[in-house]
Amino acid sequence: MRFKSILAATGVLAILAAFLASPAFAQQANPPSGTKPVCANCHEQQHTSIMLTAHGAKNDANGSMCQTCHGDASAHLKDPMASKPPSPFKKGLPAAQKDAVCLTCHAGNRHLVFWESGKHAKNEVSCSNCHNMHGKPGNVAVAPFTTSFRPNESELCGTCHQPIRAATLKPSHHPIIEGKIKCSDCHNPHGALTPVMLRAETVNQQCYSCHADKRGPYVFSHPAVDQSCLSCHNPHGSVYAKLLNEKLPNLCQDCHDVARHPGTVYGGAAGFTCPPGATTDPTNAACFNKAPGAFNTAVNTRFIARACTNCHNAIHGSNAPGNRGQFLLR
Ligand code: HEC
Ligand code: HEC
Ligand code: HEC
Ligand code: HEC
Ligand code: HEC
Ligand code: HEC
Ligand code: HEC
Ligand code: HEC
Ligand code: HEC
Ligand code: HEC
Repeated sequence: MRFKSILAATGVLAILAAFLASPAFAQQANPPSGTKPVCANCHEQQHTSIMLTAHGAKNDANGSMCQTCHGDASAHLKDPMASKPPSPFKKGLPAAQKDAVCLTCHAGNRHLVFWESGKHAKNEVSCSNCHNMHGKPGNVAVAPFTTSFRPNESELCGTCHQPIRAATLKPSHHPIIEGKIKCSDCHNPHGALTPVMLRAETVNQQCYSCHADKRGPYVFSHPAVDQSCLSCHNPHGSVYAKLLNEKLPNLCQDCHDVARHPGTVYGGAAGFTCPPGATTDPTNAACFNKAPGAFNTAVNTRFIARACTNCHNAIHGSNAPGNRGQFLLR
């Protein structure tokens, strides 16, 4: 076993060595002066940072690739100081003008189909706000995907979307900062016709794409779940467990009347009773007795600390027979 892996490792090394010695690699790492783009003589940093990325790959001696983005540089080459290329990426220029350059080649990309209708294009966010064409100054990166986005996607998005960034740092959060899922798993930063540029057609479809077990169909479904996962969950993060919008039982009692689970049993517990006078105070919705004597309104059932899901634990839907299923019980 051990011998085998040593053999394998040697094989890999041999292939690597052969590749390093091959003319193809030598040319990339050290282009002979004839093929080195003319621009590289003066813009060394911009050249090395882009050379091994998807964009640099097809460059030639005239710097044609450089010029597809920066525009015709023939005058610039004659007298670099007197004339600069039209380079549309300068700060202050309209985003649409910068983006048009990129879109000449990328308009057909399936991810970019709805760029124009996306929130980013409509709010002056341009391609180069997210994509780093030349790598960071002093950090000449030649790894693959350098053009895709600056290192950590959620940090990039978080620079502009501070509240969302803050949410992802809350105790219960989708594992975004851990790098298990990305903002772009749910959103298409390039635009989509859906609300908040979701990749899927609806919120629930988006959630099902990973939480397939919640899709059902169930014999007994919970209408709140069918309507939207967001009735109960925050997609980014929450101070309450399991990304819930509120703690139990308040969450459930936003929709469910307490009447069917009368709180009489707890009536004696001082902390759970309404303060004296509250039952006749119309501003106190939880305790106000609209129909005097009709029901035990002396008890503030709304805030009784019952964990609804101890019993109703099939909260997303149930296939259990009879009452158990119907009432989403365990
Ligand atoms: C002989 C040296 C030289 C060569 C060759 C050269 N440049 Fe330049 N380039 C300069 C100088 C000098 C500047 C001005 C720098 C400054 O003002 O900070 C400049 C500026 C630029 C700018 C910035 C324009 C702006 O508005 O700030 C771009 C883009 C650029 N060059 C692209 C190119 C491209 C593309 C090529 C190859 C087709 C090229 N350069 C070839 C010397 C050169
Ligand atoms: C895919 C498009 C693209 C290609 C190809 C490209 N650049 Fe750039 N370049 C940009 C963008 C966008 C900027 C603006 C700063 C940034 O986002 O990194 C920029 C910035 C620059 C700058 C700094 C001046 C400025 O306007 O900020 C120089 C100089 C430059 N590029 C030269 C080159 C040279 C030389 C090449 C070829 C080796 C080249 N670029 C290839 C897109 C490109
Ligand atoms: C708000 C940030 C943001 C903006 C603005 C943005 N992108 Fe992207 N782009 C990303 C992210 C994030 C990815 C990686 C997505 C992934 O991993 O699925 C990406 C990926 C890509 C890809 C690779 C897609 C593929 O086929 O794999 C291309 C091409 C691209 N972007 C081009 C552009 C162009 C062109 C623009 C401007 C018209 C642009 N992007 C604007 C964030 C952005
Ligand atoms: C001359 C055509 C051309 C222009 C102009 C151009 N690109 Fe590209 N780009 C390509 C090609 C070719 C690829 C590699 C194939 C692909 O991924 O589609 C690529 C790849 C990419 C990728 C994916 C890189 C990766 O590592 O996966 C991104 C992101 C990207 N381009 C963004 C941009 C942005 C932003 C601009 C404008 C500043 C731009 N491109 C301008 C031709 C171009
Ligand atoms: C340069 C700043 C900037 C960056 C970086 C940025 N955004 Fe945005 N984003 C905006 C602006 C501005 C808007 C439009 C105003 C708004 O709705 O907040 C927006 C809107 C959105 C929306 C739509 C919100 C709505 O209400 O419809 C989503 C979703 C979004 N961005 C996701 C992302 C993701 C994901 C990333 C990282 C890949 C990202 N953004 C990176 C500035 C940015
Ligand atoms: C699990 C899927 C998912 C992930 C991952 C995700 N989002 Fe969202 N995002 C949503 C949904 C669903 C909404 C709609 C929320 C609503 O309508 O209340 C939303 C709303 C938004 C909005 C607009 C609403 C607002 O509150 O401003 C922005 C901006 C946004 N997300 C950015 C991001 C960023 C940035 C990241 C990464 C840090 C991210 N999202 C990660 C699903 C997700
Ligand atoms: C890209 C995949 C993906 C998508 C889409 C997604 N999730 Fe998640 N979700 C995860 C992962 C991964 C976890 C962490 C699971 C773990 O830690 O075991 C998780 C965990 C959760 C948790 C439990 C959190 C906790 O604290 O234990 C809830 C609740 C949740 N997701 C709800 C949603 C909702 C609602 C949506 C739709 C807005 C959604 N998810 C969309 C991947 C996803
Ligand atoms: C009626 C409120 C409600 C709705 C709507 C809802 N959930 Fe939940 N969800 C909960 C509660 C409560 C918990 C915590 C259960 C527990 O702790 O026993 C939970 C837990 C979860 C968990 C983590 C535990 C597990 O069962 O895997 C995931 C994932 C989850 N929900 C996904 C979803 C998705 C996806 C949707 C939309 C299809 C959704 N939820 C809609 C109330 C809801
Ligand atoms: C967004 C509103 C909403 C929220 C929040 C909500 N529900 Fe529901 N729930 C409903 C609706 C609507 C029905 C269907 C009622 C009907 O069929 O009469 C329902 C049905 C039920 C049923 C089955 C009742 C029956 O008569 O069949 C149970 C049990 C239930 N919910 C428990 C809970 C629990 C526990 C929570 C908190 C984790 C919760 N619900 C949160 C809206 C909600
Ligand atoms: C001790 C277990 C238990 C707890 C805790 C519990 N329930 Fe129930 N719930 C049940 C049982 C059992 C039923 C079926 C009742 C019946 O047969 O009348 C039920 C029925 C329901 C119904 C359907 C009643 C109707 O009117 O059709 C709703 C809605 C409901 N519960 C919501 C909740 C909410 C909200 C909480 C938390 C505040 C909660 N339950 C806590 C056991 C429990």
